[in-house]
Amino acid sequence: MNNKIIRTKLKVVNNEQINSSHFRLYLTMPDDCPPITPGQFAEIYVPPTLNSFLRIPLSIHFISDKKNEIQFLIQLKGEGTKYLKTLKKNDFVDIIMPLGKGFSIPRQRKLALIAGGCGVAPLLFLSDKLYEHGNELEIYLGFRNHNQVMLINEFKKYGKLVIATDDGSMGEKGVITQVFERHLDDFDFIYACGPTSMLQSLMYLSEKYNIKCEISLETLMACGLGACLCCAVPTKKGNMRACVDGPVFDTKDLIELNE
Ligand SMILES: Cc1cc2nc3c(=O)[nH]c(=O)nc-3n(C[C@H](O)[C@H](O)[C@H](O)COP(=O)(O)OP(=O)(O)OC[C@H]3O[C@@H](n4cnc5c(N)ncnc54)[C@H](O)[C@@H]3O)c2cc1C
Ligand code: FES
Repeated sequence: MNNKIIRTKLKVVNNEQINSSHFRLYLTMPDDCPPITPGQFAEIYVPPTLNSFLRIPLSIHFISDKKNEIQFLIQLKGEGTKYLKTLKKNDFVDIIMPLGKGFSIPRQRKLALIAGGCGVAPLLFLSDKLYEHGNELEIYLGFRNHNQVMLINEFKKYGKLVIATDDGSMGEKGVITQVFERHLDDFDFIYACGPTSMLQSLMYLSEKYNIKCEISLETLMACGLGACLCCAVPTKKGNMRACVDGPVFDTKDLIELNE
């Protein structure tokens, strides 16, 4: 795993509305960027507010070598993400990256990728890299309803794509972990990102069916660099820091997930 981290200012190339609560920020790739593994994240500066003076951790969503671009998929939450939504072409973003430990990239295996809601963010770059390494992918994406469904065309070029919505308004009806269990096959590996309840169910399924599973946690972070210890995750090896020992963890090392 690469350990070099850079702090730089990147130019905004595009800021694209995806649906009512998500947008995608396209930035120019820095010339001196160290190699990035899917699952790693960046800390992006946003102006301090009365509520927070912290940078915002965001997963690397996609890297286009052809266009020399790095992308972030962002869900509108509070002041920080609202600020990022206002950025326009040619504005600059102060960014620290790449941070943390990403997903494993095997070769020529049968893999399942599972995401709920904005958990799709790190899985597009992951799909791209896994596909490049000759793996066979099945991708399971769960959303609340058809209005929230996103990125179908982007994901479907990497393998079989199954969409589920809680209300059945698009794709299969039900939560994505139940839909996944219905399709469960001889997978070598499960990769996932999404709400804690979804990740908890996958921990259970991976144990039940004895499939290796890596999940990306969105633990609250402050420094993002391993110094403040505010992102502690209880594991069988003791407390670990999500920002440097994760955010990707092997589920066999985890005890339970905190909401
Ligand atoms: C490793 C990692 C990767 C992430 N990747 C993405 C992504 O790709 N897309 C996306 O939309 N969101 C992602 N998140 C969640 C995102 O960081 C929060 O939604 C965001 O910080 C909210 O900021 P806000 O100011 O809009 O909201 P507020 O709720 O007002 O947040 C105030 C501050 O609290 C902290 N904070 C709040 N929620 C979170 C959270 N869930 N995780 C960490 N810090 C938080 C931030 O420092 C933020 O500045 C990720 C979180 C982590 C830890
Ligand atoms: S956020 Fe400071 S140690 Fe992880």
